[in-house]
Amino acid sequence: MRVYAHRGASKQAPENTLKAFNLAFEIGADGIEFDTYQHNDGIIVFHDRTLIRRANTQGYLLSESWDKLRTLDIGDGEQIPTLSETLNTIPRGKWCNIEIKHLVDVALWVNDVKTALAQSQVLEENVLVSSFNHHWLRDIAALWPEVKIGALSASYELDCTASARALCAYSVNIALDAVDKSFVERVLAEGFNVYVYTVDEPEDMRMLEKWGVTGIFTNVPDKALSVLHP
Ligand code: G3P
Ligand code: CA
Repeated sequence: MRVYAHRGASKQAPENTLKAFNLAFEIGADGIEFDTYQHNDGIIVFHDRTLIRRANTQGYLLSESWDKLRTLDIGDGEQIPTLSETLNTIPRGKWCNIEIKHLVDVALWVNDVKTALAQSQVLEENVLVSSFNHHWLRDIAALWPEVKIGALSASYELDCTASARALCAYSVNIALDAVDKSFVERVLAEGFNVYVYTVDEPEDMRMLEKWGVTGIFTNVPDKALSVLHP
């Protein structure tokens, strides 16, 4: 079962920062998950629509210029990273999950991600693109059929592989609160991978591994690795 550091090693370092991503790979994580916004000045890595929680200042992320955003301290003196900077923390052969929180221009997004990838060591086959907005995923898949798509969901739908089938997805990425054994069995039986977020407790890690889950997103990759690979 692959261990992805959720927003980087976000228990030990500020989430979605280069420090958290570098630490994740020092710990030995298989990959990192991070959140992205398509800003006027390029793709940037951040979780919230607003700045208050991470930067202790009022305002919306997308209302501010990149020059202003770049001056903000989002913990331990870390700055908001670009997609390109983030991809450059990933060693060759390791994985990443680019979660999309905001997207306006799909063609520009695909072009920007491909350009950033080409300037990094990350292999295209190790990239998983996910979002709660499956319309964006459908449009991305149409322009970039080679990229792996993760149909992200917070609920166990009655037809739990409908989106994955429609998107020709690689995986269904499901909330820990919604997942059970039957969900995992059904999704795997239809040939899709299963990723679960956010898994920080050893008991849950062992249970998901037993069920055959493909990967977990965890804020504590150090703990996950010691539980799963003692
Ligand atoms: O991609 C899994 C998970 O990160 C989705 O929820 O709110 O932590 O971005 P959130
Ligand atoms: Ca996320």
